[in-house]
Parts: sequence; structure tokens; C-alpha cells
Amino acid sequence: MSKTIKKIGVLTSGGDSPGMNAAIRSVVRTCAYHNLECIGIYRGYQGMIEGDFKEMGPRSVNNIVNKGGTILKSARSKDFMTPEGRKKAHDHLVKAGVEALVVIGGDGTFTGAEVFNKDYGFPVMGIPGTIDNDIFGTSHTLGYDTALNTVVDVIDKIRDTASSHNRLFFVEVMGRDAGHIALNAGIGAGAEEILIPEEDLGLERLLDSLKKSKASGKSSSIVVIAEGDKIGKNVFELKDYVETHMPEYDVRVSVLGHMQRGGAPSCFDRVLASRLGVKAVESILEGKSNYMVGILGDKITLTPLEQAIKGHSEIDRELLRVSDIMTT
Ligand code: F6P
Repeated sequence: MSKTIKKIGVLTSGGDSPGMNAAIRSVVRTCAYHNLECIGIYRGYQGMIEGDFKEMGPRSVNNIVNKGGTILKSARSKDFMTPEGRKKAHDHLVKAGVEALVVIGGDGTFTGAEVFNKDYGFPVMGIPGTIDNDIFGTSHTLGYDTALNTVVDVIDKIRDTASSHNRLFFVEVMGRDAGHIALNAGIGAGAEEILIPEEDLGLERLLDSLKKSKASGKSSSIVVIAEGDKIGKNVFELKDYVETHMPEYDVRVSVLGHMQRGGAPSCFDRVLASRLGVKAVESILEGKSNYMVGILGDKITLTPLEQAIKGHSEIDRELLRVSDIMTT
């Protein structure tokens, strides 16, 4: 194991997710375990450009394993997309004696790390942190499990009022352009229909399905729709369309929005974050760079960053079939 590295930087970037704090904690404590120094970088790459750094020791990450969000804040940085911005960032890292970076975020974060590595040969390691679970090379991104449980809990609550008023609810969930949250939370919450961007089922099929639900005696229905779904212009237009073609339905819309990004991380996300943080730091100490740490079949794995960025996190076709059967 290479021991030349003595100081590692850590940052969070892109949309925050529950579990990011647990990952920061793991990186900081794994550094301390190996007698390395750790520098926290605030606000992602923008903070790196501004030299917004903080020395972090094992006590500085007390009581955050159970906290949503990220104590290092997050931001999207246009300046980092420029060579001038990246040079400022590199100069600050060199001045602070930082010799490698652990970046926690999504594919945009990893793209920034790849470019930075190409510019300066700076060792980088990625930890997948996004509720979308849309990253190739890992079955779970940090925050995905927590977001699923949040969404299922909210849909259970919506179902109480939907059934009290015999209403049809369209519930829009996050996922940017992936349907993982919609599909899994939809199955978990017993949705009558699940609309995801990976499967354009069309409006006619939706109407037929809702008519069948009504005919089978269901007095209320929940349709979970991924924000990236393309079936209609947006969920409100979909509501109008269904109301026009099925006047017997009293339709409402609930857009869950950013609440899906908050909350205390689930135990699964806390344990995953702890495992990924250890793997990221120890991979750097082994002289590795340009990888994303992930989990596949409960084993912690390394995927080349380029593959993680370019790859696609496919929808599980078997799960789609289960979803169809469950709506019988
Ligand atoms: O990538 C995570 C995510 O929450 C997506 O699901 C969502 O579309 C996007 O971020 C929202 O971005 P912002 O927080 O910048 O509005």
C-alpha cells in the first residue's frame, strides 16, 4: 500500500442526498485511522476555486451520521468548467498540501473530477451520492434507499385521503431522467399505475388501465409519475387530460419535490456510506485513481470513473413485470 499520500480533500457536489454526511464522516475517520490529514472543501468545486477549506479531524464529524444534507454544503460550479477555474482550484489545493480528492456526488461531479485529473494528474476517487440511483456501476447510490422510504411513507399518507374522497392522485417524484424512485416506491406503495421515462406507455394505455381499475371496484387510485416521464407535457396537463376523458374521476396532483432529498439517512445508507468512505480512502492509499466506489451484490467494488459517467443505470425489466402483475 502506497504511503506517499499524507493529505486528502473531500467535497460534496450536485444535488445533496441523505448519507452524504455519513460518507464525509467515513472519509475523515478513515484518514485519521491511517494517520492522514483530511481537508473538507465547502460548496463543491466552487469552494475549491475559492480556497474555502477546513481541516477535519475525527471529532469534527461527531453526530452527523444520522443527519441528512451535507455539512460541507454543495453547489454547482460553472467556473470549474473553465481551465482558469480549475487552475485556481489546483493552486489552492497545492497551497494547502492536499494530494488527492474524494468527491461525493453524481455523474456531473465525476465528470468534473475526470477533467481535473486530466488537467493535473491529481488523484481522484468518486463516491456515488444522489437520490436518483442513476449511476452505472453500483446498485445503490447514497440517498436512494432513504428517498424510497420517504416517498413510500408520503404515498401511504396520500392514499388515506384519496380513499376517503374516492379520488385519483397523480404523485410526481424526483429522479431527473431516471425512473428508479418511481418504479420501486410505486411498487412499495401499491400504486395502481407507475409512469417512468424508460417506458412510454402512452395516454390511451393509461386511460384503459384506470378504467379497468374503476371497473374492478377500486374507488381511488394512485398514479406515481417520474418527473422525467414524457407521457405528457407535465403532470398537471396529464390531470387535465384524464379529467376530460374520465369525468367520473375526481383528480388531484401532489408534486413531492425536494422533501425527497431530506431526512435522516436510513440504516442502509449509513452503512453503505461508511463502507464506501473506507474503500475510497484506502484505494487512494493503494495508488489508485479515477474510480468510483460502489456496491454490487453487497460487495464494495471499483468502477472506472469514465464507465460510471458514460454507463447507464438500466431499469430492472423483471421489476417492471412485477409492477404490471401487482396492478391486477
Ligand atoms: O439529482 C438529484 C435531483 O434531486 C433530481 O432528482 C432532481 O431532478 C434535481 O436534483 C433537482 O435539482 P435542483 O436541486 O438543482 O433543483
